[in-house]
This record gives sequence, C-alpha cells and structure tokens, in this order.
Amino acid sequence: MNKTVLLDVKDHIGYITINRPEALNALSSQVLKDLNDVLETVEQSDAIRVVILTGAGEKSFVAGADIKEMDTMTPTEAFEYMTYANDTFSRLEHLRQPTIAAINGYALGGGMELALSTDIRLGHEKILLGFPEVTLGIIPGFAGTQRMSRLIGVSKAKELIFTARNIKGAEALELGIINRLVEAENLLEEAENLAKAIMKNAPLAVEKAKHVISVGVELPLQNAIRLETEAEALLFSTEDKVEGMRAFVEKRKAVFTRK
Ligand code: CAA
Repeated sequence: MNKTVLLDVKDHIGYITINRPEALNALSSQVLKDLNDVLETVEQSDAIRVVILTGAGEKSFVAGADIKEMDTMTPTEAFEYMTYANDTFSRLEHLRQPTIAAINGYALGGGMELALSTDIRLGHEKILLGFPEVTLGIIPGFAGTQRMSRLIGVSKAKELIFTARNIKGAEALELGIINRLVEAENLLEEAENLAKAIMKNAPLAVEKAKHVISVGVELPLQNAIRLETEAEALLFSTEDKVEGMRAFVEKRKAVFTRK
C-alpha cells in the first residue's frame, strides 16, 4: 500500500505531503497515524529546519475528515478519532521547526483545521476554504472552532462555521486566514522562498520565537512576557548569539550552527 503521508527532505526543508489524492487527501485514521509517525521523524531530525505541508494532486490540500469512515462511527469511536487527530495537530502546532502550509486546493473541515495548525499559510486565488461540518450534522472536531476563533475573532469564525460558506483565496487573505496570496504555479516556490528567508536566521532563535509565541498566546500577558524574557536569556548562552552579534560588529554575514 502507498504511504498516505510522504516526507522528503531537501536542502533542510522537510516536505510533508498528504498523499491520498483519490479521496482528495481526506484524513482517514490511517492518514492521521502516518502523519503522526512523520511528525515524530521531523521532531528528531537535525537536517530539517523548516517544514512545508501540502496535499498530493492538483485539486486538494485536504478535503476534510474522512466522511465515509465517520459514517459508521459510534460516539466512542468518534471521540477516539477526534482525540487522536487533535493530539496529532497539536504535535504539528508545537513542532520546534517553523511550518508552512502550501494550500493547493480544497482545505475543507479537517483540511482547514490542519492548515490552522501550521505557523504560516500560503494559498492561491482558486483555493476553497471552509467548514462544511454543520451540513453533515456535526461541528468542526479537529479544533476548528477554537483555532479559527483565536485567529480571526469569535464573530467571523461563527459566521463561517454557522453558514458553512466556502471562501476563496482573496477572502481568506482579507480575513487573515492565509498570510499571502500567490500565483498557483508559484505556490511551492513561494513556500520555499519563505522557508529560505527563515533559514537565513539563527535556528535556535527562530525555534524559541515560535515556542514563545505559540505558548505565550495561551498565557496571561505578564506570564507570557516572563516566558519571553527567560527564553531571551537562554539564547544569550548560545554560540549563534555570539556569532550573530560578532558578525554585526565585524560587518560580515553570520554563519549559524544551531549551537
Ligand atoms: N471524506 C471521504 N471521502 C472524500 C472526502 C471526505 N471528506 N472528500 C472527498 N472524498 C472522496 C469522494 O467521496 C470521491 O470518492 P469516490 O470517487 O470514491 O466517490 C473522491 O474523494 C473525489 O471527490 P468528489 O467526486 O466529490 O470530487 P468533486 O471535485 O466533485 O468535489 C468536494 C470536491 C467539493 C471537495 C467534495 O468532494 C466534497 O464536498 N467533499 C467533502 C468536503 C467536506 O465536507 N469536508 C468536511 C468533512 S467533515 C470534517 O472535516 C469534520 C471534522 O472537523 C472532524
């Protein structure tokens, strides 16, 4: 059987591809398990500095949770399926490496929720995003009610979820769901350019910035500021901090080693 999630590593970029194009990359239990395994590999890889996540095929990023599988689930099975997906998405959200979703088509329901678990999202004009769950008699169950509300605000998230209205790239950009709108044929290249821009910088600093932002937004402000201060102090113990500042003083380009 073909792997439902692929991992390729090239030039320090980890390319994760949801690879079930015959079902528009819908997130079956098998896909979630394979994604979890791939994330474990990424976590342990020193070679991967940035992750680009996309969907196989021309049409779809991910068309949601697997409706055919959910069709026969008991409430207990549904609870286990949602919990496993949420644990996997949280693992993606908290990967130490920055993550970029290259949204290449449908990002519906669980697909939208998967994209919301990445750090930065790129898309093109023709992508279709939305939450069709209420048309199926359920609600977004892979944390879409929570992550979308936190990203674009409660009222706009409620409108999208209550109406199940699909939106295209321009509206997704306007709402702040995607960071950038790019030409469809340049999507991967633009994601790679973004990855390269991130990789020019001190890796431990980028990782700490991600951690402090991702964890800090959940904390009261004073605790979050304290988290930032402690992370900053820790970075003063790194070789890359010494190199970065010395390179500035010596008017040369810094060479970082993730130490
Ligand atoms: N689950 C299972 N199979 C899916 C799927 C999904 N979410 N989305 C598409 N597929 C399958 C189709 O059943 C079809 O398979 P068959 O060839 O075996 O019939 C194949 O993928 C191709 O799909 P279509 O023929 O429907 O393609 P289309 O281009 O005509 O339509 C689409 C594309 C509008 C995305 C349509 O497939 C669609 O509406 N899909 C469902 C989208 C959806 O409702 N997603 C939310 C799921 S619920 C969820 O995600 C809950 C949660 O938060 C936990």
